[in-house]
Amino acid sequence: MSGNTIRYRVFENPDSASAQAAAEMAQLIRERAVIGRTAVIGFATGRTQLPFFEELIYLYREEGLSFRNVICFNLDEYLGLEQTHPESFRSFMRWNLYDFIDVPRENIHFLRGDLTTEKIPAHCRAYEKKISEAGGIDLQILGIGRNGHIGFNEPGSDIQCRTSRVPIAEMTRRDAIRDFGDFDDVPTEALTMGCGTILEARKIILLAWGSQKARVIRRAIQGPVGSKLPASYLQTHPSAQVFLDTPAASVLMEK
Ligand code: GLP
Repeated sequence: MSGNTIRYRVFENPDSASAQAAAEMAQLIRERAVIGRTAVIGFATGRTQLPFFEELIYLYREEGLSFRNVICFNLDEYLGLEQTHPESFRSFMRWNLYDFIDVPRENIHFLRGDLTTEKIPAHCRAYEKKISEAGGIDLQILGIGRNGHIGFNEPGSDIQCRTSRVPIAEMTRRDAIRDFGDFDDVPTEALTMGCGTILEARKIILLAWGSQKARVIRRAIQGPVGSKLPASYLQTHPSAQVFLDTPAASVLMEK
């Protein structure tokens, strides 16, 4: 499949890139607040997101940005963890963002990793329905796995896939040892918004820092579009941007 290269911006460090991403989100939230409408945001987890969350909390505390008109959808969740498990993405989001801003609790939506097998398909369909009923995602924030996954859409995922139960790739599980301590404790499956769901967002910003992401960023932005690297699907999106620090941009070919 042919794609365009994705628009990307290189910043001096993760903090300056995060400040720009947060400023774009803040502008959307404020524009909607003025006309009495909601802003629908898709949030991602991962260490990459931490300086970005800090920036959002700063804007809330110091710059008067309110999240009262924001509706949040979280991208993915490990399967098999209780909601209160310290490594659940629900806990991650509460402890790093939601507990520190004024977003109404009823506006926060998570995929649930604690459901039994029979309940999962209906839960995933209901999640998609909630996104549609909210008016669709205005701005989706993403990170990227070293194997090119977005959400938990691992290599092999179809461009049209919807929210569903998916296996987690071995490389991704190995990267998660830093959180879980032991490979065998890292969940083997997850629920994730699908590539098709993600690509329906009106705007997308993918964040990536550090030299360990440099090769995958080059493939995502400048390589062929295909299921070997789900992040390459962003090339087909009319309004996707990638914000990088200098090390993550270090092996990109000249524009
Ligand atoms: C997990 C999440 C992804 C995230 C990725 C990168 O696999 N499911 O949504 O993009 O981690 O994590 P980090 O930002 O810690 O590198």
